[in-house]
Amino acid sequence: MPEIASRAHAEALTGITGEALDKAGIKLSDVDAFAVTCAPGLIGALLTGVNFAKGLAYSTGKPLVAVDHIKGHVSAAFIEHPELKPPFLALAVSGGHTSIMDVRTYTDFVTVGHSRDDALGECFDKTARVLGIPYPGGKEMDRLASLGDKTAYKFPSAALAGDNLDFSFSGVKTAVINTIHNAEQKDEKPAREDIAASLTDRVVRDVVAKTAKALELTGRKALVVAGGVAANSHLRRAFAEYCGKNGIALCIPSLQYCGDNGAMIAVAGYYEYLAGRVADLRLNADARSGKSRVGAENASLFPKTAE
Ligand code: KG4
Ligand code: ZN
Repeated sequence: MPEIASRAHAEALTGITGEALDKAGIKLSDVDAFAVTCAPGLIGALLTGVNFAKGLAYSTGKPLVAVDHIKGHVSAAFIEHPELKPPFLALAVSGGHTSIMDVRTYTDFVTVGHSRDDALGECFDKTARVLGIPYPGGKEMDRLASLGDKTAYKFPSAALAGDNLDFSFSGVKTAVINTIHNAEQKDEKPAREDIAASLTDRVVRDVVAKTAKALELTGRKALVVAGGVAANSHLRRAFAEYCGKNGIALCIPSLQYCGDNGAMIAVAGYYEYLAGRVADLRLNADARSGKSRVGAENASLFPKTAE
């Protein structure tokens, strides 16, 4: 409900800003710069935040810094891992995005792989809904998966075939939903635990496999896994195992910094600010991505085949 989301932002922003200042024990005038998410997301909610931040910057005379939401998720890893320094590889998995990024500096992130349709979080949330689990169902799917038999169902791969680092989660999502509907038509009730365990096993293996391929191609020795779905216990365990065996330093933010939070935007904004990337008061929001403004770009690690 985009409009309700925008209204909720308008209602909450002032109060939550006051609360954050109180918790930090500082005054508005102590803030050196204001970082704000400008992309991607629901445009109404983004515009509410961008205009609020503009107001703060204008009234205090302090700089305004534009932050890409996905870069924010990855930057959350800097909070608890001071040893983490670019270059490294990052996997961002959230409700709206699934991207593999080559992080070259604190501000230059190059997308080398992504989902061509649904995001991983969306795949969990939509299959959870069909199982009668309220939105967002990702966390409950995680719990159920620990109780089920992961060999009960065989679902299609989300890792796209061929020389790419891309995913497609819509096929596996549809296969899960069809499995549930088919069982219901026969008056059977599929075990939610088994569905969750089989789906989780499938997508976790796919995500680890593509990320492993990206690590090999880039030669990076450190990996950040971030975003709401990085809270998934099965995903965390699988990456810990893979990285342990392959000599890759793994940084996954603790649970409080996986889901959307303001601290991650502040950290990303801090590095943008240090790099001199300050926005002006014409800053706009962008529902899809902030490529031109925040320096993200898409690249392929695979040589182009002759046309
Ligand atoms: O990053 P985030 O808070 O918001 C977006 O930017 O989308 O991610 C939210 C997503 C939702 O899809 C939610 O179901 C999922 O993260 N999520 C999980 C878990 N905790 C949150 N998915 C799987 N396992 C979890 N433990
Ligand atoms: Zn997010």
